[in-house]
Amino acid sequence: MQSELRFTEDGSHTLFVPAIDECYHSTHGAVQESRHIFIEAALKRCKKTEIRVLEIGFGTGLNAFLTLVEAEQSAKKIHYTSLEKYPVAVDNALLLNYPEEVKTDFRDAFELMHTFPWNEKVQITDNLSLEKIETDFTQYQFTEMYDVVYFDAFSPEKQPEMWTEVLLIVPRAWCAEQCKQLDLK
Ligand SMILES: C[S@@+](CC[C@H](N)C(=O)[O-])C[C@H]1O[C@@H](n2cnc3c(N)ncnc32)[C@H](O)[C@@H]1O
Repeated sequence: MQSELRFTEDGSHTLFVPAIDECYHSTHGAVQESRHIFIEAALKRCKKTEIRVLEIGFGTGLNAFLTLVEAEQSAKKIHYTSLEKYPVAVDNALLLNYPEEVKTDFRDAFELMHTFPWNEKVQITDNLSLEKIETDFTQYQFTEMYDVVYFDAFSPEKQPEMWTEVLLIVPRAWCAEQCKQLDLK
């Protein structure tokens, strides 16, 4: 998928995809959006000390990177699995300014997240392992269970095939059951 590097309003990068006229993130702030939706509203609500995260759409690796930062700050062990059909070219991914925008010392970890081969699992830091699977979510057969799901597809208008009931109803029902068990609304 051809993409162009763009700045968002909080200073962090995103990628713009001309073919579908859509960015990977909110133009108001990629880091701000990812923190709010995935870290604050999802990851931090899971009270386990060892957490299995599933992401649909690895893309720029921003969600994975913010999860790594949170894993280091909270000292929780996180096993992160991410599915991606169209991996971003490594040379483009290494231009992304997330480690600098988040003001961390984890540039090496961010680069490792992008440079290790697809379909392998690597221990990126003491607290975060990452498995990147190059596959099509709409065809993928899940065999594992997860505590937290980051569903980060393009919009339903641009990619309706990702948002069909048959793909989302089972994970949704399972999440509802998990929320009940964890006493979350
Ligand atoms: C809105 S972007 C978000 C990406 C990423 N989470 C990030 O922060 O950069 C959507 C992602 O879903 C990926 N994608 C699109 N169709 C897919 C499919 N059928 N299976 C898996 N990933 C897909 C895209 O390539 C893109 O990386």
